[in-house]
Amino acid sequence: MNAPLPTADTLRAALAGLLDGLPPKQAAQAVDRLISNYRGATPTDAPVLRDRSDVAAYAAYRMPATFEAVRAALAGLAAAAPGWEPGSHLDVGGGTGAAVWAADATWEARPGASRTTTVLDWAEPALALGRELAASGAPALRATDWRRARIGAALALPESDLVTVSYVLKELTEQDRAALVTEAARAGQAVVIVEPGTPDGYLRIIEARDRLIEAGFRIAAPCPHNDACPIEPGTDWCHFAARVSRSSLHRQVKGGSLPYEDEKFSYVAAVRFDARPAQARVTRKPQIRKGQVLLELCTVDDGLRKETVTKRHGSLYRAARDTAWGDSWPPPEE
Ligand SMILES: C[S@@+](CC[C@H](N)C(=O)[O-])C[C@H]1O[C@@H](n2cnc3c(N)ncnc32)[C@H](O)[C@@H]1O
Repeated sequence: MNAPLPTADTLRAALAGLLDGLPPKQAAQAVDRLISNYRGATPTDAPVLRDRSDVAAYAAYRMPATFEAVRAALAGLAAAAPGWEPGSHLDVGGGTGAAVWAADATWEARPGASRTTTVLDWAEPALALGRELAASGAPALRATDWRRARIGAALALPESDLVTVSYVLKELTEQDRAALVTEAARAGQAVVIVEPGTPDGYLRIIEARDRLIEAGFRIAAPCPHNDACPIEPGTDWCHFAARVSRSSLHRQVKGGSLPYEDEKFSYVAAVRFDARPAQARVTRKPQIRKGQVLLELCTVDDGLRKETVTKRHGSLYRAARDTAWGDSWPPPEE
């Protein structure tokens, strides 16, 4: 029997199939319409994803990127909580299910593990397509419960080990945003929130982070501590980058010939249980110079600080050369 494909490859294949038979020009037009809908203030009174072609365009164009961003955020959580894995996962505003695929990619390797998964969203066409895509995935994906629900003050979430909210807060009113984070904190043992890696995405993450800490959570990632973020407001924003292979649709819509692009995202992963956050997090792409690596770090004791690792540091220098933006520092012991 052939070994199953890794989750990311299965998702890529399912998404490629989605555009089969759709004239490339039509697909590109649907993406253009969607991008202009998402540009600026997203409407908060009715779903942006109204029909099958909106949703197919969203899935083909954005889902590989949101999948990679959530996967990176979940990797931060998994590294801080070794041995833990969610028995239940609730994805709020889950759309076509990027976070469900990301959870599967993060915790797929454990034999015999099972997970119940629920996706909530108010856009029925998104749920329908999510269900369709998941049919080609692993058992946990295929068993996902796709439910229509509107996020708002009246929303009561089922208790879940893991609650994810990815690329959703921007689409909510301030009150709904606050209500959702408070409710996620009541329902979840671990809450992971991902937003675009922009200054305003970061501010929504910081607001959610404060709310989670107030509700008794500890931060598992990316921050090494529960203290206030050391970034002076307005001077910078904490964000990371996830590499995404570009599909032919991407190249068609955005032009350029690079086979990949970097999705910028901000996130917070917070837990009610014991976790081992990183001692420090690499907050910028490390600069590799002759015989030295310059790291910009957010640290547990000194806030933001720069560190230069040179050849004289031996194995630490070799590790620094392999360290990427977003990694923990020092590298975890083997
Ligand atoms: C940008 S998409 C993100 C989808 C998915 N979480 C991802 O990461 O790819 C935002 C999703 O939030 C959903 N959404 C926005 N406002 C909502 C509301 N008030 N109630 C329920 N779902 C909502 C949209 O329908 C859409 O599926």
